[in-house]
Amino acid sequence: MWRVTWLLLLATTVWQRGHTTEDENAQSPRHVSVVIVGSTGDLARKYLWQGFFRLYSSQVGKGYTFSFYGGGLSPSEKGTPLLFEILKELKCPPELAAERCALVKEQFLRLSQYIQLKTVEDYEKLSQQIEQQLKQEDMVEAGRLFYLSVPAFAYADVSSKINSTCRPPAEAWFRVVLEKPFGHDFESAQLLAAQLAGFLKEEEMYRIDHYLGKEVVAQILSFRKKNSNFLEPIWNRHHIERIEIVLKETLVCKGRIQFYDQYGVIRDVLQNHLTEVLTLLMMKIPANLSNSEEVLKNKLNVFSFLAPLGRNSVVVGQYQKYTEEVQEELNKTKDYFSRTPTFAGVGIFTDSPQYDGIPIFMTSGKMLDERVGYARILFKNDIFCVQDYSHVSCKPKQIVFHLGHGALDYPAILVSKNLFKPSLVSSVWREVTEHKDISVLGLPLSDYYIQTPVAPKEAYYVLINKVLHGRKDSFISADNLLASWAFWTPLLDSLVQAFPRPYPGGAANGDLLNFQLRGRELAYVNEAVVNVIQQGQDENFQVMQGKFRGAEMVSAWAKELVERLASDLQSIAEEVIQDEGQFHLVLSGGSSPIALFLQLALHHYTFPWHQTHVWLADERCVPTTDAGSNFRTIYEQLLQHVRIPYFNIHPMPVQLNQRLCVEEDGGALLYEKEINQHVNASSFHYVLLGVGQDGHTASLFQDSKLDETGERLVTLTESPVKPHQRMSLTFTAINKARRVGVLVMGKRKHELVTQLSRIKGESAKYPITKAKTIQKLQKVSDSPQSESQTCQPTTAGRGTSWKMKTLRRTWLPLELILRRGR
Ligand code: BG6
Repeated sequence: MWRVTWLLLLATTVWQRGHTTEDENAQSPRHVSVVIVGSTGDLARKYLWQGFFRLYSSQVGKGYTFSFYGGGLSPSEKGTPLLFEILKELKCPPELAAERCALVKEQFLRLSQYIQLKTVEDYEKLSQQIEQQLKQEDMVEAGRLFYLSVPAFAYADVSSKINSTCRPPAEAWFRVVLEKPFGHDFESAQLLAAQLAGFLKEEEMYRIDHYLGKEVVAQILSFRKKNSNFLEPIWNRHHIERIEIVLKETLVCKGRIQFYDQYGVIRDVLQNHLTEVLTLLMMKIPANLSNSEEVLKNKLNVFSFLAPLGRNSVVVGQYQKYTEEVQEELNKTKDYFSRTPTFAGVGIFTDSPQYDGIPIFMTSGKMLDERVGYARILFKNDIFCVQDYSHVSCKPKQIVFHLGHGALDYPAILVSKNLFKPSLVSSVWREVTEHKDISVLGLPLSDYYIQTPVAPKEAYYVLINKVLHGRKDSFISADNLLASWAFWTPLLDSLVQAFPRPYPGGAANGDLLNFQLRGRELAYVNEAVVNVIQQGQDENFQVMQGKFRGAEMVSAWAKELVERLASDLQSIAEEVIQDEGQFHLVLSGGSSPIALFLQLALHHYTFPWHQTHVWLADERCVPTTDAGSNFRTIYEQLLQHVRIPYFNIHPMPVQLNQRLCVEEDGGALLYEKEINQHVNASSFHYVLLGVGQDGHTASLFQDSKLDETGERLVTLTESPVKPHQRMSLTFTAINKARRVGVLVMGKRKHELVTQLSRIKGESAKYPITKAKTIQKLQKVSDSPQSESQTCQPTTAGRGTSWKMKTLRRTWLPLELILRRGR
């Protein structure tokens, strides 16, 4: 009964002070039961109780009454004093005067109690207690809020218990808050999502990312919207030079290695916190910022235009003490070391017309020189300063969303004065006019317009408040979560074997972790020697000499080979164009030529694409949108990056009359006609082929009736592997070509190349031996310079001059190899 008396007393006090609206006064307060499961754990101790206390103090008398249940596995005798210790330490929210705070805190303590939550029966008891209280005190139930502050492995179990015992009647809401990690990769996230969906509806789940509660992050959209008259014309690739999203930390991982070592910095921070910031910066501004559905939909759309990440999109590091911490906390021996990165830098690009080409640097690490979080939008400065370089217009033009810490030490949005004077994001923000004598990202504070919240609030408080009000836009939807994992998982997979660069920590890191973009690839700037992690003995490499149909074979390490092939192609193209005006190039699909495509796209800016026609050696009978389509690979890895006229591109017409590769549709004939129409004597200038494990080339397989095609240039064929139906150039077309190059990459093809080099003349077993070579090209040097991180020996053939050397070794990380001068 004392509870009701106290509540009424408090509510009356607040009403008398005129803090509530007439509408709110008109209704009797509705009751909210808050249950923190795992209420004495670290998160609850540090943030949750403080957040709920502030929520309570801000909401009391405003239409809600509360009761708080701190759940835990321990029995009540043990849990109650523990919880009391935590509650005793709660600090007063800054907006409450000390006297009033004491009153509110006492009340909060009375409304809070520990409860054992272990078995289904415990949860049943909890539900009964909630119902009894509502009845006894004649309160209308608003809803039940469960905060699951437990390890992720317990989510399904706890959710199932809550679902079967604690649901309120239909008129009241039921909200369950969950905290990351939501899985470890795409697959595990999908599994967890499916498990939870068995117990909770999507609208009942509030997946928290505390970065969305940081005030600056929470205001990004509002800043973009309020200042759209300035921002809209410049928020695009024509004006933005780069975007940086950064969380630097000074802490180590000691004490949480059990968790951290399985996750690492990418899963811990980039996949969630920094990705959330990225989406807020890149998403289309919703017409209505309070429409959660629209906000989440626009956010989700960002993932559809992010370019895929690969091994070369990232650099990783690990502070040196980490190994010791791992050995200690995981009980490992002294020779054990972990490959978990504690630092990562990632280069992200999009293929959206709005942002295409803007590098987005995302980085985070432990044990760096300072603790600071920010997102910086650096704009291009097209002003040429002839004199007075210190004039504000000559300085960097930038917007900094400063999340906190660092030299500035408060959350703020900074706009350099050479951009525009922004509007305040909200009425509870203020402009800062008194400046400390410091610089933020290269500009003194006096060169910025700065705004900051009047009374900063803790992220957890902000988010808990949103749960109470059912604002889902500040939480992660299942779709967004899976899209984020789908984006990050391939990169994480590619890092499984990678060795992070060791770094000493703090200021001693110097420039060791600085990284740079080379094309679209990321690499450490500094390749100085650091501790080398030895990984067994290097294998001896083998050098083999062989011939292919009487012609020499050339081999080299992947990088060297591909560089050479690309520059040969360019020289040939230029030569042919000078004589004939046009260069007809035939490309193959598969994974081998991808490195060549990227080399051409990113390093051969003077390649004469305008006069080059691109043809296909073969195609799978799938739509071009299918991941298996050769044309799609060539488009994604090469054509979309170069300025080639559309009418110079000749995909194979595998889809006609809404069906794939049907003989009567005459696709092969059509392609043949197109060749005859454009290519002099149907003789391509260069055909680049690959070879499959079974010796096939283009889509000419062992069992294809290779000799029956006569003078036909194009034919439909059958592959022994899926997709079975193919379209391919015939050997007639291939052998009419002026030059034929065969590019073979990959360790698994090593044996094949050896066999091919031994075959004299043609062999029915290996269709590639039917490819004839005509013209001699010069050889490349054999020097065994390495570059590949993929442990792959590589071989290539060009024209009649093939020479092959195959190298095999166990690789160290790239930077270590380079440092050792190999
Ligand atoms: C947590 C990570 O989610 O975020 C921590 O698990 C990290 O490793 C922390 O330190 C950073 O949050 P904040 O609010 O301190 O920037």
